[in-house]
Amino acid sequence: MRLKLVGYSLNMASPTPGNFIRKRRLRSSEPMRRLVRETHLEPSQLVLPLFIVPGEGIRKPISSMPGNAQLSVDELVKECETVYSLGLGGVILFGVPDDKDDKASGAYADDGITQQAVRAVKKATPNLLVMTDVCNCEYTSHGHCGKVVQTRNGEYDVDNDSTLDWLAKTAVSHAKAGADMVAPSDMMDGRIAAIRRELDHHGYTNTPVFAYAAKFASVFYGPFREAAESTPQFGDRRSYQMDPANGREALHQMQINLDEGADLLMVKPALPYLDLIRQARNRFDVPIGAYQVSGEFAMIMAAAQNGWIDQERAMFESLTSIRRAGAGIILTYFSKDVARALA
Ligand code: PBG
Repeated sequence: MRLKLVGYSLNMASPTPGNFIRKRRLRSSEPMRRLVRETHLEPSQLVLPLFIVPGEGIRKPISSMPGNAQLSVDELVKECETVYSLGLGGVILFGVPDDKDDKASGAYADDGITQQAVRAVKKATPNLLVMTDVCNCEYTSHGHCGKVVQTRNGEYDVDNDSTLDWLAKTAVSHAKAGADMVAPSDMMDGRIAAIRRELDHHGYTNTPVFAYAAKFASVFYGPFREAAESTPQFGDRRSYQMDPANGREALHQMQINLDEGADLLMVKPALPYLDLIRQARNRFDVPIGAYQVSGEFAMIMAAAQNGWIDQERAMFESLTSIRRAGAGIILTYFSKDVARALA
């Protein structure tokens, strides 16, 4: 008797050509490939990050992120009209204030740059989903994501619990300005619970919290820090952002964020952490987002500008991989390009 395994004869001496499994049949033409394609990108799944500066008529290019610019509120409004017409899932706003202090006052001021931006965008394009990044690093004079205190041995540390109050106030001020969703990116312990409690207390019970839950201390945030002017003046963020070596810890961190009331979870950066996107997708039944960060974007753009890589194909391949890994939502600086290419 001849053993047959999925149609392929085990008798190697006389393989029957007609019995081969030919995977190439379904790859033979674009209509065929299109029919069997498993993963799709939709503009509605993409969120465009935008940087807002004080002033008027400002569109200041960010050199390390070609095609992106710091925008004044009036320019932001125009940009958001374009974003809306392209059918993107939404925007996430990052305020870049002129004045910074050691209390991050601008982060939670009612007339802060982000609050002004949210009000203007929601007025001009009420149906565009507006998320805000809730963090302090753009607003502190030292560039850290929380309150810096001196420890007993004379060193500096970011104090966790006193920072929670700033974050909660910031989230409420964003919601009050009209933000549809808040996204805390600071990585302080207990921030999701603190934000949820304060939002509810002020009546914003329907404002979802999108937790930057598995956020790693990554070198790939470099270009963003130019865009957001948020480079720490001393030290680094490794005492609050995660060690890139730790996957199990990332899952625990996501579980904690869920337990504290997060509505959506984010993995950030995206491409170097696809394993965690997949594990999060398998383990948690909430929307999973991924942030293709500034450095991931900058690498593709730099290679493309050197003629070493095809920009559009690199964009689609990287984003499709992030979708395939399990992200339902992607924050990416390519959002508009994807929507235009798909149209
Ligand atoms: C703020 C924040 C950062 C990013 C998003 N929110 C920078 C950081 O943590 O240093 C990075 C986004 C990007 O690189 O595109 N805390």
